[in-house]
Amino acid sequence: MTLPKQLLQRKPLARLALEENGLKQTLTAKDLTVLGVGGIIGAGIFVLTGIAAAKYAGPAITVSFILAGIACALAAMCYSELAAMIPVSGSAYSYAYATLGELTAWIIGWDLILEYALASSTVAIGWSGYLTSFLESIGIHLPVYLTTAYLADPAAGFVNLPAMLIILLLTGLLVLGIRQSASFNFAMVLIKLAVIVVFIIAGSGHIQTTNWENFAPFGFGGILTGAGVIFFAYIGFDAVSTAAQEAINPEKDVPFGIIGSLVICTILYILVSVVLTGVVSYTTLDVPAPIALAVDHMGMPWLSPIIKLGAIAGLTSVMLVLLMGQSRIFFSMSKDKLLPPLFANIHPNFQTPYLSTLLVGVAVAIVAGFMPIEKLGELVSIGTLFAFILVCGGVWILRNSHPEFPRHFKCPYVPYVPLAGILVCLALMAGLPFDTWVRLFVWLLIGFIIYFGYGIKHSALREKGNDT
Ligand code: ALA
Repeated sequence: MTLPKQLLQRKPLARLALEENGLKQTLTAKDLTVLGVGGIIGAGIFVLTGIAAAKYAGPAITVSFILAGIACALAAMCYSELAAMIPVSGSAYSYAYATLGELTAWIIGWDLILEYALASSTVAIGWSGYLTSFLESIGIHLPVYLTTAYLADPAAGFVNLPAMLIILLLTGLLVLGIRQSASFNFAMVLIKLAVIVVFIIAGSGHIQTTNWENFAPFGFGGILTGAGVIFFAYIGFDAVSTAAQEAINPEKDVPFGIIGSLVICTILYILVSVVLTGVVSYTTLDVPAPIALAVDHMGMPWLSPIIKLGAIAGLTSVMLVLLMGQSRIFFSMSKDKLLPPLFANIHPNFQTPYLSTLLVGVAVAIVAGFMPIEKLGELVSIGTLFAFILVCGGVWILRNSHPEFPRHFKCPYVPYVPLAGILVCLALMAGLPFDTWVRLFVWLLIGFIIYFGYGIKHSALREKGNDT
């Protein structure tokens, strides 16, 4: 039996772009791994590690990284199975739409907004923190009320203007059709990796083991909450699957890219967290640019601006990947008529989904300007963990309901690996603050209202009298 009809009829955005730009299937396993690393390393390691260590886990943030890495490894196996089976863009939304039915797909698609759009806002705030810090190191001081959201600091803040501006700038680029080519991404990834490796090597000579003495000041609960928060740092490996249609050999290379990029980032994150909490006391790390703070502490003034510039470049590529991912998901949802047709409008000259990109960009910019990074990061983490649970569950369900589908990559030990993925993700979700749970439920509730108020009435499947 072949894959469902609606999947084969789908002409996703990546395919449109391929046809219109005449691009070829050129990406190798190495390119896909680089793409993954490009989408993964960002505000999580450069910003949230500091907050998570200072407030929740202490030096045991390293253990939090290992726990979050395990959750991601299990989810990555499941993701790889689906991505290799259904190599189209649209991410987990498309997999669910093709195989699990419209309502499940809607829930995943709606939930993925938390992962892609809100994560873009979060990264933009991190970007602003590093920019402000870099400008200060060359003697330019931006006023606090223009670089800090009111909700982040009611006493001194008003709006985070740099965060808004970078999102609007990148939105403009995406509307004009600047595609993230493999070579541009490769350069960004090299800069990011170089900065991180230099930090690890330079910092390892400045570790004071006394900083680790109070290793887990907030107990296991703190480690778990820390894992939920820095889980954000791993988000993005699934972006590899959005390039599936440009891969030479997607069935083999997409799983390789997903798992390979995750392994590289996990190792780097563990090393960075060891060095960071060894160089400075975890109590000082609740700042917008914690890695730069540690570098300042190391007495290497020349290194600090380089690290900041590297972080700024690295965070920019993450925002591009995430913003583009979000407009692709909306595009797919609009093609299925679960969202209004304007989200699938392609600009006649630029050949981009310009309205979708613009709407996403403006909304993301507003959130970035007025929300605190920490609360956003937590909401992104819980939303993504929830999506991972659905993906793990999906693999398990499909093994039973459609054992005949061709699977080019098989998640090992089904149902144990998906089940373990679900349990570990649930444990990380449990560690997140109660108010984050409330926000997730409110978000899902809004999603249901929109689905039952709009999507279900306009749905493409319903139109064809082919509801699943
Ligand atoms: N993992 C990405 C980051 O840390 C989203 O910025």
